[in-house]
Amino acid sequence: MGYIIRRKEILNNSVVRMDIEAPDVAKHAKPGEFIILRVDEAGERIPLTIYKTDGDLVSIIYQIVGLTTMKLNEKEEGSEIATFVGPLGKPSELAGYKKALVIGGGVGSAIAYPIACGFKKEGAMVDVILGFRNKDLVILENDFSKACDNLYIYTDDGSYKEKGFVTNGLEKLINSGNSYDVCFVVGPIIMMKNVSIFTKKYNIKTIVSMNPLMIDGTGMCGCCRLMIDGKMKFACIDGPDFDGHKVDYDEMISRNGMYKDIERKKRDEYCNLFKGN
Ligand code: NAD
Ligand code: FES
Repeated sequence: MGYIIRRKEILNNSVVRMDIEAPDVAKHAKPGEFIILRVDEAGERIPLTIYKTDGDLVSIIYQIVGLTTMKLNEKEEGSEIATFVGPLGKPSELAGYKKALVIGGGVGSAIAYPIACGFKKEGAMVDVILGFRNKDLVILENDFSKACDNLYIYTDDGSYKEKGFVTNGLEKLINSGNSYDVCFVVGPIIMMKNVSIFTKKYNIKTIVSMNPLMIDGTGMCGCCRLMIDGKMKFACIDGPDFDGHKVDYDEMISRNGMYKDIERKKRDEYCNLFKGN
């Protein structure tokens, strides 16, 4: 028996929220943990961070980028997906901070949300910076505005709120006298790298959430390996959170790009099936 999709909500033209009935996962999930799903029994496994839980429901937010997320997106409310395993990974460590800055880039903002809520629950004052390429891609603004003390939204082209990257927002906050005990960052690898370069200069503890390719999610296959301070770690069991000042981002960028051509070919073949080519 599979896992029933109870709710599906389009957040923008490539980002979707699904609430899946998975009581065992919902019961144990903590901020920062993720699940691995397969759309059908023979399908690829993809990791997705848990956005929220509510009763028996687990919410995930995905970007339609490859074959598996395209197939997932063909599923409608009431239908099932084959497997939904979790919660996996280590929960984020959010206790013990007075003032936290959470930075989310694009669809990575979905992961930043439970982190902001978690810091708040632990009694911290929480500022959030979110970055999107343009106004049409902005997601979760209402949720964040309820979950944090100050929300700053940046768009690359200035079509909504402030113009610039999240790093411009970070610079502005620091230059105007704000200080933080911790900065949590999730989004494109290059964004996490650039934020970490900046926070290192100001000696701000920085945690990044890494999402390398994964297969088993249990430390057995080695697929999710990454280099932290010169040592090999597995994101699925040692992470997904790591010290942002110790990650080898360039190695991660090159590993994550390894299967791009194969992925593109598979996606194109799948699309052509429907066009009758
Ligand atoms: P995007 O490319 O639209 O970028 C989002 C924002 O990141 C930009 O608006 C900007 O503010 C910032 N940014 C981009 N490049 C930057 C740079 N060079 N310097 C500073 N800031 C920069 O993001 P998207 O298309 O929504 O994709 C989201 C990315 O997040 C994907 O690459 C995905 O793999 C990644 N992601 C990561 C996780 C994770 O756990 N780390 C989870 C989900 C998604
Ligand atoms: Fe296999 Fe992490 S996904 S070791």
